[in-house]
Formats: sequence, C-alpha cells, structure tokens
Amino acid sequence: MDSQKGLREDITSVLYTRQQLQTAVEELGQRITRDYQGKEPFMICILKGACVFFCDLIRHIDLPLEIDFMSTSSYGVSTVTSGEVKLVKDLDRSILGRDVLLVEDIVDTGMTLNYLKKILTGRGAASLRIVALLDKPARREAPLSVDYICFQIPDAFVVGYGLDYNEKYRNLPDVGILSPTVYEQQD
Ligand code: IMP
Ligand code: MG
Repeated sequence: MDSQKGLREDITSVLYTRQQLQTAVEELGQRITRDYQGKEPFMICILKGACVFFCDLIRHIDLPLEIDFMSTSSYGVSTVTSGEVKLVKDLDRSILGRDVLLVEDIVDTGMTLNYLKKILTGRGAASLRIVALLDKPARREAPLSVDYICFQIPDAFVVGYGLDYNEKYRNLPDVGILSPTVYEQQD
C-alpha cells in the first residue's frame, strides 16, 4: 500500500524530484564548504519548514559546524502570510563572533527573513548570510538579499520536502504545486 497516495493526489505537478533536490543540496553543501574554509559556521534552521532541507544540507558541509533552531509563525491555515511575524522559539546559544548561516525553506514576501535578520543583527555575529532552498521573487514585498538559493520558482503554492499547507505534506520527498482545490475553500 502507498501510504502517501492521499497526499500525492493533491499535487498538480512535481517541480523538483527527490533526486533533483539531492543533487542541488549536495552542490550547495560543497559550495558552502569552499566558502567557509577555516571557519566554523553557526547554522540556524528556521522551523519547521526548513528542517528536511537543513538536515540534508549539513551532511554535505565538511566543516566543524554548530546547529541551532529558531521558529516563527505568520501563516496559520492560509497560503498567504498574515503579514505579522512572531518569534516562537529563539536560539539556545550566543552568536557573538560567529559566522552565521540562516537556513530557510522558501523566501516569499521576505518578511520572515527581514524580521529574523533584524533580531540577529546587533547580537555581534562576525557575519550573517541567508540560505534558502526556494525563492519566489515575484511575491517579494520587502527587499532582501539571499546569498545562497537552490531554485527560483514561479508564483505558486508548493509543498513537500519540509514545506506544508496547514501542517500537512511536509513528508513528501518531492516539491510539488498544491492543487488550489485544497485551499480554495479555506483561504
Ligand atoms: P515570507 O515571510 O512571506 O517570505 O514567507 C516565508 C514563509 O512562508 C516560509 O518560511 C514558508 O513557511 C511559508 N511559505 C511561503 N510560500 C510558501 C509555499 O509556497 N509553500 C509553503 N510554505 C510557504
Ligand atoms: Mg517556514
């Protein structure tokens, strides 16, 4: 029995397969390894969406790194941001003097990352760079420079590989476009 059949039926098209994601994440890990030679990056996973990407990415970085987690909320049961970002979980450790990499699943309006950048700037990091699996530049509301991106995608709501709609679909191994019939009644 395919236990993911019900989830897959809600996907109109697969944008990136498990294999394409793995190749891109491996290349990104190698790039970060080269760029941070001699350093010990402090890698922050933004929960929950980035968790799958983050766990794959850190295993392709051949450096003595440290990990920590932050969590924000802004969506609720919706495909559009509420516009108000809240910090739900802060870091456990100090970033003073550290080379910080903030790892996000997707950059949409840019509000989440701008908010987190604002919080982290002023805590004395040696450097702060942003890493995102996906970028939806068409929907950007606030300017934001993203240092490392795997894929730029069109303006569609996507799920899988950590990304959710209403907390579902995170466990799909591919990234796909969610059928609008799933959220049309809710939004
Ligand atoms: P932003 O603050 O508008 O840039 O939104 C960033 C957050 O919105 C991401 O961390 C995701 O959690 C969520 N998000 C934005 N677009 C999508 C999408 O297409 N699928 C799933 N989550 C999304
Ligand atoms: Mg997220």
